[in-house]
Amino acid sequence: IVSKKPQHFITTADFTADQLFDFIHEAIQHKVQAKYQYPEPCKDRPLTGKTLAVMFSKRSTRTRVATESAVAYLGGHAMFLGSQDIQLGVNESLLDTSIVVSSMVDGIMARVGGHHEIELLAKESSVPVINALSAKYHPTQILADLMTIHEYIHHRDNNISGDQYTAHTQHPRETLPGLKVAWVGDANNIIQEILVAFPKVGISVSVAAPEGYVCDDDVIAIAKADAQKTGASLLFTTKPEEAVKDADIIITDTWISMGQEDEKVKRLQEFEGYQVTMDLAKRGGAKPNWRFMHCLPRKPEEVDDEVFYSDRSLVFPEAENRKWTILSVIDRLIVKGGF
Ligand code: CP
Ligand code: NVA
Repeated sequence: IVSKKPQHFITTADFTADQLFDFIHEAIQHKVQAKYQYPEPCKDRPLTGKTLAVMFSKRSTRTRVATESAVAYLGGHAMFLGSQDIQLGVNESLLDTSIVVSSMVDGIMARVGGHHEIELLAKESSVPVINALSAKYHPTQILADLMTIHEYIHHRDNNISGDQYTAHTQHPRETLPGLKVAWVGDANNIIQEILVAFPKVGISVSVAAPEGYVCDDDVIAIAKADAQKTGASLLFTTKPEEAVKDADIIITDTWISMGQEDEKVKRLQEFEGYQVTMDLAKRGGAKPNWRFMHCLPRKPEEVDDEVFYSDRSLVFPEAENRKWTILSVIDRLIVKGGF
């Protein structure tokens, strides 16, 4: 018997534009089916008898709830293993943990510290590994962001509102290419994942981060190569006004990621002038109907209440879409066995 290597979901950089579109398209089918079409949701329950180990070494609200509820919907069991519960990197090497855990479950969803940890897990695991956040990337978040942007454009262009998903006739490949996204904030895992996904699907990206806050060289190289292929533009600046020019969507994230709490005072000083406000969008010349996104959790310093709770804000549909996109990834990797 030749055992096939499982397909993992470590970063969207490992997938083609068509595969990313497929994840989103399928996530929308799941959302429509779960919320509006099936009297008895997901009757076939394809994960019956299967277990997903959810190994998180950091806190989580959205990713955990999305994952556990998605697995329940598919009929499986999500086994949450927090850093206090198992030996993950504390009393046992990550290598031994991955071999042991993967021998008993059907998939692993892991939130780790350094990116090398998720890479090691994937290398040694005999079942699909999904990256639930590493210091470098956050792929399930960025799939949800693409889905949310697609829905917004689809609803806008077809003049429909709210949850009218049954009217979904457009494919993400029709809505996403040609848009422009502005990032105003830290050079962290969220913008790095955006950089390896958005230019590939034809979305231009402008990044404003303070002096000294720079993305990894390999991430920038991927973004540049993808942008060249699709015709998307890329801009890196320290001026938020410059980044938001002509933006359809403005995105930010916390200035203090998990594990950086000690740098709070320094960071609050260095990010001065980076708060997303109506005034910033106006001064910089964002598109008249620009929208706002944020992966959450949010602090008011990076975006004020006026923007965050306004009609421009897509943050809550974006959070809900974590569930449908994670469901789509689990379905593709664990139920269908990959692409
Ligand atoms: N956006 C996100 O990953 O949120 P959680 O940390 O709450 O999972
Ligand atoms: N950049 C944040 C994202 C949290 C979802 C962090 O790494 O803590």
